[in-house]
Amino acid sequence: MPKLYADLNPPPRILMGPGPVDADPRVLNAMSMPLLGQFDPCFTGYMNEVMDLYRQVFKTKNHWAILVDGTARSATEACLSSVIEPGDTVLVPIFGRFGHLMKEISERAGGEVVTIETDWGTVFPQERIIAAIAEHRPKVVPLVHGDTSTTMAQPMDAVGPACRDHGALLYVDATATLGGMDVDVDGWHIDAVSAGLQKCMSGPPGSAPATFNERVVEVVERRKHVEEGIRPEGFEAGAGPTITSNYLDLPQLIGYWSTERLNHHTEATSMLYAARECARLALGEGLQARFERHRLTSRAMVAGLTAMGLELYGDLAHKMDNVTGVVIPEGVDGHAVRAAMLDDFGIEIGTSFGPLHGRVWRIGTMGYTCRKENALKCLGALEATLLQQGFKLPAGQGVAQALAVYREAEM
Ligand SMILES: Cc1ncc(COP(=O)(O)O)c(C=O)c1O
Repeated sequence: MPKLYADLNPPPRILMGPGPVDADPRVLNAMSMPLLGQFDPCFTGYMNEVMDLYRQVFKTKNHWAILVDGTARSATEACLSSVIEPGDTVLVPIFGRFGHLMKEISERAGGEVVTIETDWGTVFPQERIIAAIAEHRPKVVPLVHGDTSTTMAQPMDAVGPACRDHGALLYVDATATLGGMDVDVDGWHIDAVSAGLQKCMSGPPGSAPATFNERVVEVVERRKHVEEGIRPEGFEAGAGPTITSNYLDLPQLIGYWSTERLNHHTEATSMLYAARECARLALGEGLQARFERHRLTSRAMVAGLTAMGLELYGDLAHKMDNVTGVVIPEGVDGHAVRAAMLDDFGIEIGTSFGPLHGRVWRIGTMGYTCRKENALKCLGALEATLLQQGFKLPAGQGVAQALAVYREAEM
């Protein structure tokens, strides 16, 4: 007899870690629509709509706004490994785990990586990044916008212009901020940027929106190579070194998303439906209104957690608007608190990595999850759980102070 296991029946949860967070029901609904062939005119029409929707989400006039099929890092890897050629100098500013990921991907692509680092919980003064660009003259600067590992958001409006002045390309990882904080691609002169759906875009992990400009296209088209089985007669490969990944080869992805409709991979149909709905939701709400919703809930969480006598992690002036780091108080078992929040209240909050492991909880208020009722439930559940752990706190104050922030905003 085959072992079938039970029907899927995931327990109801409120996902308040640093992502994935709850998907908007409209996105789940879109994913249940019938599949179409990847060259069906209706489907290619949806692809064109997706490009146009993401141009608006990314606030860009770039022609190319595409999806890479994979989680957020697949688009990071498509951008970096298509642009970086062996021996190229790459400058990676690191202020958390995902800066290290940028370094790792750049090294794997053959780049000669130079790093600058700042303590976790802080961001770089932009002048420091700009001085390093002037000193090292990199071809590419991969920079994380919001690093969920530390909950910090790096200001970067002056970095793009400095990259232009020194002939460098700026790639930005906006995985954790797109749809929740302003990512002004053209205004900040970002050359390539990518994200995921599973955070402020209110979708599931598995599709990575990316946009890039003609400066990037010029660099990667030099490396254009089409696999033999589908290579058109007379095709001449670019003079540059072939991109080592077939799947994450930007020129081939461009070919697929262009009117040429190069038969590269099979587009992940249901994920494209999801990505399309995520963008419609963000634009329908209005980007500014959405950013304000995240800012307000961030303020409410900060007020509530502080009123409970908890210390918040990091430089609050640069805290992301969609995730809050909480220092685990002395004597409290951080793992037990997270387990009780999940078991008793169905609320997931996040743990931390690297130097912050066991020291900081990360509470996400992203996308669809970023709502008053979730913030208040989370604070109430945390209070009850901490009291059970013997932590002394002024009972009732957390929810009351958070509610006061919402009430004031509603007036
Ligand atoms: C800033 C940032 N970059 C990249 C990633 C990696 O995303 P994925 O797990 O979807 O590949 C994450 C995920 O937490 C992130 O927060």
